[in-house]
Amino acid sequence: MQVSGEMKRKKIVVLGTGGTIAGTAAQAGDNLGYTAAQVGIEQLVAELPALADGGCELFSEQVAQVDSKDMDFGIWRALAQRVAHWLAQEEVQGIVITHGTDTLEETAFFLQALLDPAKPVVLTCAMRPATALAPDGPQNMLDAVAVASHAGARGVVAVCAGVVHSAFDVQKVHTYRLDAFSSGDAGPLGYVEEGGLRLLRNWPSGQEGQAQAAIKIVASGAGDRSWPRVEIVMNYAGADGRAVRALVADGVQGLVVAGTGNGTLHQALEAALLAAQAGGVRVVRATRCLDGRVLPKAGDVLADSQGLSPVKARVALLLALLASAH
Ligand code: SIN
Repeated sequence: MQVSGEMKRKKIVVLGTGGTIAGTAAQAGDNLGYTAAQVGIEQLVAELPALADGGCELFSEQVAQVDSKDMDFGIWRALAQRVAHWLAQEEVQGIVITHGTDTLEETAFFLQALLDPAKPVVLTCAMRPATALAPDGPQNMLDAVAVASHAGARGVVAVCAGVVHSAFDVQKVHTYRLDAFSSGDAGPLGYVEEGGLRLLRNWPSGQEGQAQAAIKIVASGAGDRSWPRVEIVMNYAGADGRAVRALVADGVQGLVVAGTGNGTLHQALEAALLAAQAGGVRVVRATRCLDGRVLPKAGDVLADSQGLSPVKARVALLLALLASAH
């Protein structure tokens, strides 16, 4: 849909994938009993006249319409293809993606690791449905477009409640608050204030080398039926190795373990993971702590996640296995 303006210079593409930002409830004001992913992206954009007046040419496209708890590899592939397609158009300044909050950090990291874009790709979302008495989606979309239009912006970021987060650091940390995301120790990338961006640190970049083979596979669709099986297990009081052994018997190719503290593991769980690793399963050790990272030390027998959270370490391992399998 062409939203506005032959005279406008910056073209921003808005890709819809669903989420609460596109959700509807039977009763205005019901912020819990709603259905996510109901309103099309064309309508969400059209309902924001301020977007059309903001000096951008906007183009919207529906890539998916899901509650992001149901995000899957097929949608990731379609989304990566559309993002890569639009980024390659010279006139496109940046991309905004509307997405559910629940797995936003995984999609953000997936796109960053895969594409390492030289233009901005801005994921945004809402904690209240579009039918809420005071929905947060419209302001989040305005802020996301402001970031995508910002001169010099690059990389995959998330914008929610006026805060800009790098794809590497963003994590959903609250079940209900509008400001549901955190960048942990790293702190936010910046803030959007009345349409202006106050940038605090560098735009995300990197991961390109690792992803070059994977992007070809994702783009070609060759891996569609055979994305590697990578699961997450956790350490806790009373943990043992049974879940790991069951997963290995079931053909798992990669395991991320969310360890306690500095990636520590119950001895029984560690023994099972070491056996899995000896049998050819790739094992990565992250931490279940929200902040901090696993600090490597001499004698470590399981690779650490290089500061990635368990869900992002899983994405990195998926891409690495995808690249090495084709
Ligand atoms: C979803 O993740 O799609 C639903 C929840 C949300 O967007 O807040």
